[in-house]
Amino acid sequence: MAENIIAIGLDNVVVAETDLSLVDGQNGLLVYRNHWARDLAIHHTFEEVAHLLWYGELPTEQQLNALKEKLKANRTLPAHVKAALDQIPADVDMMSVLRTGVSLLAEPTHAWPPTLEQVISLTAKMPTIVAYRQACLQGTEPLEPNSALDHTANYLYMLKGEIPHPAHVRALDAYLILTQEHGMNASTFAARVVASTRSDLISSITAAIGALKGPLHGGAPSEVTEMIEQIGTKENAEPWLRAKLEKGERLMGFGHRVYKTIDPRATALRVVASELSADDPWFDLATHVEQVGLKLLAEYKPNRKLNTNVEFFAAAVMRAVGLDDAIFTPTFAVSRVVGWSAHVLEQAANNRIIRPQSNYTGVMPE
Ligand code: ACO
Repeated sequence: MAENIIAIGLDNVVVAETDLSLVDGQNGLLVYRNHWARDLAIHHTFEEVAHLLWYGELPTEQQLNALKEKLKANRTLPAHVKAALDQIPADVDMMSVLRTGVSLLAEPTHAWPPTLEQVISLTAKMPTIVAYRQACLQGTEPLEPNSALDHTANYLYMLKGEIPHPAHVRALDAYLILTQEHGMNASTFAARVVASTRSDLISSITAAIGALKGPLHGGAPSEVTEMIEQIGTKENAEPWLRAKLEKGERLMGFGHRVYKTIDPRATALRVVASELSADDPWFDLATHVEQVGLKLLAEYKPNRKLNTNVEFFAAAVMRAVGLDDAIFTPTFAVSRVVGWSAHVLEQAANNRIIRPQSNYTGVMPE
């Protein structure tokens, strides 16, 4: 039998060519189709960047208006989806609810190949699922989407029950842009594996949500806020973090498979968070925890080049705009669905089933 190369964790294995993004982990660079992600987050909006990823270019004014109208027209949840969400027990976590809600959006017409119409419809509905569930948990009447508001503002409106402050919309928009796309991360890979079997878009995105949920991927931001809460004071930061590392545990919001220098999304979001949180003691403590965490990681893992990742400051931004911990990761999904679906379209356009191998280490029958 021929010897296969074993790549546990698929480190450094290239499984696709993509026009969507470049993640340069050595130099800390992130490009979406010929644009710096950082610049897109400063100068553009959620819909403009989604257009760039889905259609290949930033939109003209006319194209942008057309996309906004399509998103607005698709925000409302079908009655059967609401009825099913109502049946889910209150202690089921929000990511599981989102995964179930997305699964319920399957339609007979959604067979292979995936289309941009399906992608837009799904992207429009995901924020409504999250807001609907939150309202049910809080015992308030779920708000219908507000067609006067764009994607991010409408999401905040549905979650908070009031027209959001423009600074909050800008901050959340920056976060949602910086996390729309990120190469072949675990959830995107999951989406592409499912798409490669010629399964439907909804099945791909359901798989991706399941992958994003894990604390080593998109589940980290709520664990960052939990960590800051538990640390509580600046004096407690070093003993608390040191105790974690002594036990061999990981510090949430630090480290990345690809970035061996600062995560450029963390750099950009640090600025956004600090603008909103200038006088907030929580943010002051968080930046202290970051400094102590970096110092200790250099001490305990000297050869690993561990830096702050996007999740550390994602937590700070989402907290600053008033979102609850429980919807930090679902909000990541509301953003990343753009990249997942762009990858599904790209996979479908040039498909070969993704089918790696494993080495049998068991015993052969007699
Ligand atoms: N805290 C402590 N040690 C760490 C951390 C951390 N946050 N991250 C990596 N390490 C250590 C590992 O224990 C391991 O040490 P060892 O070789 O002595 O056993 C070594 O560094 C592995 O380093 P990498 O190969 O760089 O890490 P890997 O690719 O396996 O994991 C991951 C990357 C999962 C992101 C990891 O850094 C981690 O668990 N971070 C905390 C969770 C987190 O913040 N996740 C969000 C990532 S960003 C995103 O998904 C959007």
